[in-house]
Amino acid sequence: MVPAPGPAVPGRRRTGRRRRPPKVSRDHETENRTSPHAELARFLLDAGALTRDWSSAFDTAPRSAFLPDLIWPFDMDAGTSRAVDRRTDPEGWEREAYTNAPLTIQWDDGHHVGPEPGRVPTSSASMPSVVTRMLADLDVFPGAHVLEIGTGTGWNAGLLSARLGDRNVVTVEVDRTVATWARSALGSVGLSPDVVCRDGRFGRSEEAPYDRVIVTAGVREFPAAWVEQTRPGGLVLAPWGTHYSGGDALVRLTVAGDGSAHGRFLRPLEFMKLRAQRLDWNRFGRHVGEYPGDASVSATSVSLSDLGEGRRFQDIQFVLGLCVPRCAHVRNVGESETVLWFFDMTEGSRAWASATFTDGESKVTVRQSGPRRLWDEVFRALEWWRGEGAPRLDRFGLTVTPDGVHRPWLADPANPVPSFAG
Ligand SMILES: C[S@@+](CC[C@H](N)C(=O)[O-])C[C@H]1O[C@@H](n2cnc3c(N)ncnc32)[C@H](O)[C@@H]1O
Repeated sequence: MVPAPGPAVPGRRRTGRRRRPPKVSRDHETENRTSPHAELARFLLDAGALTRDWSSAFDTAPRSAFLPDLIWPFDMDAGTSRAVDRRTDPEGWEREAYTNAPLTIQWDDGHHVGPEPGRVPTSSASMPSVVTRMLADLDVFPGAHVLEIGTGTGWNAGLLSARLGDRNVVTVEVDRTVATWARSALGSVGLSPDVVCRDGRFGRSEEAPYDRVIVTAGVREFPAAWVEQTRPGGLVLAPWGTHYSGGDALVRLTVAGDGSAHGRFLRPLEFMKLRAQRLDWNRFGRHVGEYPGDASVSATSVSLSDLGEGRRFQDIQFVLGLCVPRCAHVRNVGESETVLWFFDMTEGSRAWASATFTDGESKVTVRQSGPRRLWDEVFRALEWWRGEGAPRLDRFGLTVTPDGVHRPWLADPANPVPSFAG
C-alpha cells in the first residue's frame, strides 16, 4: 500500500488568531454610532498593531473598498473557509470585512468558480493586524520609494499610496484578473500607484532603485532582483521559510553595498506562497513508492510535542527547517495514531522517513529509506537546538549572498546555523 501523505491542512494560510474587534455597547452605539472601520482601527491601535503614523492612511484606504462581493473568511480555529456574499448578506459581509481575519478572494489561481471553497487559496486580503504590523516594520519615511510584491486586493498598496503618494509606490501582481481588480479598487478611493502585472520574482527594474521592498506572499528563495533593485541601506521585508512546513517567519533584510543582505527574523506568520515556489504536495504519494519497501526500522522516545507538532508557530518547527534543509514534512492524524512523514526535496532523491506515534504508547516507530536518513537529521537538529538553550525564533537571522546563497545564523551572521543534511 502506498500511503497518501498530505499537508495536515493543504494550502491553508494561518496568519494568526481570528479576532473580532470588541463590540461597542448598544447604548454607546445609539449615542455615538461607531463604524466597523473605526472599531477595527481602535482594536488594532489598542493591540499595538496599528501605529499612529499609519492612522490617516488607514482611513483613506478602508479595507471594504478592496473586497469583491464574494469573499471567504478563514476561520483559523476550525481551519475552514466559508463563502460570504455581499449581494445576499450585506451585513455579514461588512462584519467580515472589518474582522481581524484573512479573507480569500481567489482559489486555485482563478480556475475555481462558485461559492464553495476551492482547493488552494491563491489570493486574499491578509489579516489586518498582519498588514499593519508589517507596515510598521517597513519603517518608511516621507518620499520613500516602495516596491510591493503580491498586490492581491490592493489594500496594502492603497495604504502605502495614501501615506507616501502614488508616485512612490509600485506593486506587482502575477495574476491578471487580480491585478485588474486591485487597480479598480484603488481607483475607487482615489489612489493610483503603479500596478504592474508580471511575475514579481523579477521585481520592477524600470522604476528601481527602491528604498523598501515589501513582499506579501511566502518566499522560499529570495530572487536576486529584489536585493539588486534595493538601494544599499534599504530594507527587504518578506515572509520567508523552508520547505519543512508551511509556516513562514517575517525577515527584515538590510541591503549592503556589496549586494548581500542580512537581517533578523521578527516573528512567525504564514502567507500563501509565491506561485513558482509552492510545494507540489501530490508528488509525495509517488515519492514513497512501495511502502515500507526496504526501509530500516528503529525506535525513538521523542514526542510530538518535542517536535512542536499540533500547535501553530512553534519555534522548533522553524529551526528544524533551518537545520534540515531540503526536507518537507507533513502530519497525518488517524484514529489512534499520528504519522509524521519526511521527504527529501533534492532533485531525483526518493529518500523519506516516517515516525508513527500510537496513542497511549511512548515508543515511536521510525522508518527510513534512501541515502538521506531524514529522521536522524531531524533528531540531531532537535538535540542541537536544545543544547543551545532552545533559542527563540527572533534570535535567528538570515544572510543572502550576492550569488543567492541563503545562510541562516544564530545571534550573529558570523555564527551560521549548522546543517545536518547528510
Ligand atoms: C496574500 S495575497 C497579497 C495580499 C495583498 N498585499 C493585499 O493587500 O490584499 C498574495 C498575492 O501574491 C500574488 N502572487 C503570488 N505569486 C506571485 C508572484 N510570483 N508575483 C507577484 N504576485 C504573486 C498572489 O496572486 C496573491 O494575489
